Amino acid sequence: MEKIVKDFLENQNLKKDEFVELIRAYKDPEAVEALKTRAVELRKKYYGDQVFTRGLIEFTNYCKNDCYYCGIRKSNRNADRYRLTEEEILTCCENGYELGFRTFVLQGGEDPYYTDERMESIIRKIKKGWPDCALTLSIGEKSYDSYKRFKEAGADRYLLRHETADAVHYGQLHPETQKLSERMDCLWNLKKLGYQVGAGFMVGSPGQTDDCLAEDLVFLQKLKPQMVGIGPFIPHHDTRFAQEPAGSVELTLYLLSVIRIMLPKVLLPATTALGTMDPRGREKGLERGANVVMPNLSPVKNRKAYELYDNKICTGEEAAECRGCLSRRVESVGYHLVSDRGDAVE
Ligand code: 5AD
Ligand code: FES
Repeated sequence: MEKIVKDFLENQNLKKDEFVELIRAYKDPEAVEALKTRAVELRKKYYGDQVFTRGLIEFTNYCKNDCYYCGIRKSNRNADRYRLTEEEILTCCENGYELGFRTFVLQGGEDPYYTDERMESIIRKIKKGWPDCALTLSIGEKSYDSYKRFKEAGADRYLLRHETADAVHYGQLHPETQKLSERMDCLWNLKKLGYQVGAGFMVGSPGQTDDCLAEDLVFLQKLKPQMVGIGPFIPHHDTRFAQEPAGSVELTLYLLSVIRIMLPKVLLPATTALGTMDPRGREKGLERGANVVMPNLSPVKNRKAYELYDNKICTGEEAAECRGCLSRRVESVGYHLVSDRGDAVE
């Protein structure tokens, strides 16, 4: 086995160039096995065989941003736009609670319709209706004051993938008006405000090099987020990246193990994108260090329209009840879905 893998198992504080070497070992079966073993050991130590679940409510696919990879970016004229009403959102929570969810994730495009006032109202109603549940927001870049207001209204967690920690690469994925430094400032602000914070990136996005991925790992090491979301890039037919190849499932799985080892207590989802690229992708993710799944709780009528990438799973009628499906999938690899807020362990 390559020396760098042993070095990493002993001391996770690698330099960027060493992370590049570690990433390049992903095709070495011995490296894969060694990292997988340690990752599973650590996830078992802190979380046993429990898998936490989050009910994902995709409440708007309007977006003022224009990320080149994303199917709901503003310049996609073909996107079939929708917004859920406050009432519809609360119905999702009601159904979700019945199904056993104790965390709700409100995710949406950066939609100006949802002013801070409207968001505050939704947050307060959810926290009042289901006080034993955690509420996670995933609504993009906002000012410090907005984040503060949402926190005071009761939001507990915030997901904001940094997408890539390499500024040049960030520029290849986003228009000039979107800046990596601003995104990172948001993450630091969220931390300062006491949110449990989630960062993350796509694996295999166009222009990504091993160097970029190493930079992502260095950034995670610095930020020490409580949650990390990673999944393979998947092209969307109405974007400039329609013809680009999708990211590698194997590399994504390898990085899940690396991240578990770097941040042993991290809340690490086996993502929908991973499940889209491989029918057993999420199960494989759990076997490599992931400990969270995020099934869809959005109304079935809207699911198809929240299309960040092509062939997204769980968007048809048959997926009305993702929780049951996922529960069986989780059991198939020897873990158990639990009905719990699923906070990070101290
Ligand atoms: N492929 C994979 N993931 C994507 N995301 C957006 N577009 C794509 C795509 N084409 C991810 C981004 C975003 C998250 C909500 O979905 O990382 O942060
Ligand atoms: Fe949605 Fe399986 S998780 S149908």
